Amino acid sequence: MMLSRVSVALAALGLSQDVLSAASSDNNKYSLVQPLYKPLDLGSIKPLGWFKDQLQLEADGLGGNLFDFYRFVHDSRYIGGSTEYSALDEASPYWFNGLVPLAFGLGDERIRSQVQYYLDYVLDHQQEDGWLGFETTQASRGLWARCLLLLGMIQYAEADPMRTERIVDAMHRYTVLAHSMLKNNYTGLLVHGNDTFDTAGFGVGRTHEMHIPMQWLLERYPRNNSEILWETMQMMIDGGVVWGADWRTFWTEENYPKIYYETTPYNLSWVFIHGVNMAEGLRYPLSLYRNTNDSSLKSQSRLAVDLLAKYHRSLAGTIIADEYISDLNPSRGAELCIAAEVMFSSAYLYQYLGGNDVADWAEQTAFNAFPVSVTPDWWSHQYVQQENQPWSRNLSTNDLWWDVNSYANVFGLEPNYPCCTVNHPQAYPKFLANSFVSTEDGGLAHVFLIPSSASTGLGPDGSNIVLINANTTYPFGHNITYSISATVSFTFYVRIPEWAEKASTINGQIPVSPNDSGLQKVDVPAGKSSLSVELAASPRVTHRANNTAAIYYGPLLYALAIEHDITSHEPINYRSQQPLPANTTDPLGRTQDFQLTPKNGTIWNIAIDPQQIEIVKTNKSNSGLGELDNPIWDLGAPPVELRVKAVEIDWPVVRDSPADPGTFEVTRKGEPFWTRFVPYGSSKLHMALLPVMGLDDA
Ligand SMILES: *[C@@H]1O[C@H](CO)[C@@H](O)[C@H](O)[C@H]1NC(C)=O
Ligand SMILES: *[C@@H]1O[C@H](CO)[C@@H](O)[C@H](O)[C@H]1NC(C)=O
Ligand SMILES: *[C@@H]1O[C@H](CO)[C@@H](O)[C@H](O)[C@H]1NC(C)=O
Ligand SMILES: *[C@@H]1O[C@H](CO)[C@@H](O)[C@H](O)[C@H]1NC(C)=O
Ligand SMILES: *[C@@H]1O[C@H](CO)[C@@H](O)[C@H](O)[C@H]1NC(C)=O
Ligand SMILES: *[C@@H]1O[C@H](CO)[C@@H](O)[C@H](O)[C@H]1NC(C)=O
Ligand SMILES: *[C@@H]1O[C@H](CO)[C@@H](O)[C@H](O)[C@H]1NC(C)=O
Ligand SMILES: *[C@@H]1O[C@H](CO)[C@@H](O)[C@H](O)[C@H]1NC(C)=O
Ligand SMILES: *[C@@H]1O[C@H](CO)[C@@H](O)[C@H](O)[C@H]1NC(C)=O
Ligand SMILES: *[C@@H]1O[C@H](CO)[C@@H](O)[C@H](O)[C@H]1NC(C)=O
Ligand SMILES: *[C@@H]1O[C@H](CO)[C@@H](O)[C@H](O)[C@H]1NC(C)=O
Ligand SMILES: *[C@@H]1O[C@H](CO)[C@@H](O)[C@H](O)[C@H]1NC(C)=O
Repeated sequence: MMLSRVSVALAALGLSQDVLSAASSDNNKYSLVQPLYKPLDLGSIKPLGWFKDQLQLEADGLGGNLFDFYRFVHDSRYIGGSTEYSALDEASPYWFNGLVPLAFGLGDERIRSQVQYYLDYVLDHQQEDGWLGFETTQASRGLWARCLLLLGMIQYAEADPMRTERIVDAMHRYTVLAHSMLKNNYTGLLVHGNDTFDTAGFGVGRTHEMHIPMQWLLERYPRNNSEILWETMQMMIDGGVVWGADWRTFWTEENYPKIYYETTPYNLSWVFIHGVNMAEGLRYPLSLYRNTNDSSLKSQSRLAVDLLAKYHRSLAGTIIADEYISDLNPSRGAELCIAAEVMFSSAYLYQYLGGNDVADWAEQTAFNAFPVSVTPDWWSHQYVQQENQPWSRNLSTNDLWWDVNSYANVFGLEPNYPCCTVNHPQAYPKFLANSFVSTEDGGLAHVFLIPSSASTGLGPDGSNIVLINANTTYPFGHNITYSISATVSFTFYVRIPEWAEKASTINGQIPVSPNDSGLQKVDVPAGKSSLSVELAASPRVTHRANNTAAIYYGPLLYALAIEHDITSHEPINYRSQQPLPANTTDPLGRTQDFQLTPKNGTIWNIAIDPQQIEIVKTNKSNSGLGELDNPIWDLGAPPVELRVKAVEIDWPVVRDSPADPGTFEVTRKGEPFWTRFVPYGSSKLHMALLPVMGLDDA
């Protein structure tokens, strides 16, 4: 389908063969490194099962309703309104970038009409000189938010051939303008004199975000404009380098701050130690690698993954950073949009690096860090989520954090900075869009093992029409049943996660034999066929500093469940901390701020014996392979729990959160007992990193 879609689009554009051949010779000069695994065009993959339920909840929840009431989207200046949360003007572009894949992944008409309205408005109002957006002065015109707009637009162009030509036209006109601005001492990127568009340096720390849209344009619709596209990318990077935001200097053993406190010597820019920037900056060396083919940039991408994994990756997969990195202690927490960006970056990195652990990382974040910060009905979210978090309320202090307020771990509409309100929607739709990929040898691979169906045209001319349904409750169950139809035989791959054990099988009997990249090859015949994959797993214990441990089972992190009481009230304004006026909250009252406190008598202060773990199938697991509760990320909904032997301990509370292990003496109180561990994402209050203590079997 990839190729055939492109030729359909080219035909729609009425491009002559001359232009096509000019474009292809142009392409040789400006050729890009190709990924090992290519994503399919947006719209080729549809969600099934629990993942479809999740996208539907997202569409029916906050993400899918921001357009109707939320001031930074509904009243965005991009569509004729008057409200932006900062001079970056990034709010509705973030929203657009997330809602486009939701609209076309889920196939939801209401959401599609929202993004279509927005797209058409923005394109209709493209300025004479090519500028996209409402800003008319040099002082206010920043390039950064345009990167997000363009990211949304290329997805739209893939999914809807009726809009492709307009989008491509607009992107070329914009690029010519951006090129001339950048040529003029990086105008729009670097702030000169009284420029207001980026006084902190967020955009200049994210210069590579222009690369994905520009590279897309260069490959698919270069229109004899390749040189301009190429130079535009180059100047974005050069401008960032001039300013001091070259990520190549940061992702190194020497310069990467393994632990960062106020007293830590550190000579580089602040932009590098900001969690969301880091999640995005992971892609910087790779973006440059695509243009330069310099293999050291590929190695550096791998190093970046490894440094983050070792020093700042949370148990749940995100980057511990509140908004800045510090250490790996479980009270620090992580900002929600870091998880959304990590999911996108790890999926993208996997397509080039191919490391099985990188794909596992994307799943780890998608099944743990992301859902834990969103309420089961998708109407509220946290700004900061802590690994050890026995309550979620306005803390009595924010001394715990660099730059986050005491309200940040409340579930709400905008419990702290509104970037997470507008940027969280991209996480699941893009994860879906990257779940099946095509392989270099002309095959297809299922890499993120969620229930979904892919339809695509394989083969050089796209004529081998392949349809695959993956029926599974993964990650809540570990079996996947595929039903497949294909015009011609082809090679299918299933990614076998690193945690899967030797007893994993195909069709219930053949032991899996993945290659060193973790891909299990299956020859699929023409016509209809089916296939099943059964992954074998047991609970795994990860030991961490200060004699602590965390428990995983399959891709899920398990944590102590904390039953809670809930109080709610109308959402507050993140700046004034006063109730928001009704004109920016949901008219039906569905968006509320929630404070969660442990039920009276609930114990969170425990040490565990990780030698003593039992798997428990709850009564939810009787309902069969295809059935899961909806919503699933709710306490008690997932069908598999663990019981872990534990004992109550004295655990001091410091800065209104459980003290970090290592700072207090672990002394037991009373007799051991079995505690209930559940998937972390389902338990908004939880303790995930716990002191370890040997407890007698009893
Ligand atoms: C990149 O370099 C490799 C090895 O030198 C070469 O095989 C490949 O064709 C190059 N790719 C591009 C896009 O230039
Ligand atoms: C919402 O109402 C407030 C007054 O309560 C007003 O200042 C503001 O402009 C309104 N916002 C929108 C988006 O209509
Ligand atoms: C380019 O911009 C920088 C930052 O505003 C300024 O310091 C420098 O003088 C400018 N250079 C030229 C040639 O205008
Ligand atoms: C900056 O703004 C001040 C006050 O409006 C004005 O006097 C000055 O000329 C401006 N400088 C530049 C470089 O535009
Ligand atoms: C492409 O652009 C070059 C100069 O930039 C021009 O000489 C050439 O005629 C153009 N080709 C087409 C097919 O427009
Ligand atoms: C930071 O800069 C100072 C002075 O230039 C230098 O002595 C020090 O080694 C640098 N530190 C790091 C971590 O690079
Ligand atoms: C949250 O607590 C802080 C003090 O820690 C206080 O300043 C703020 O007003 C409170 N916010 C709300 C919405 O109650
Ligand atoms: C998964 O598949 C295996 C092998 O066919 C089977 O024994 C097991 O019962 C299945 N598990 C579930 C939960 O259906
Ligand atoms: C595993 O198979 C995939 C798909 O053909 C391929 O891209 C990858 O390079 C292979 N890995 C190894 C280590 O051979
Ligand atoms: C909590 O439970 C204890 C007994 O377990 C009881 O004495 C106490 O009053 C309860 N507190 C509240 C606030 O209900
Ligand atoms: C998925 O599998 C379950 C259990 O085998 C079955 O009940 C259900 O109908 C299947 N769903 C689809 C869409 O094939
Ligand atoms: C472990 O304990 C030490 C000593 O209190 C502390 O410095 C450190 O931050 C703790 N946590 C980790 C993750 O190392």
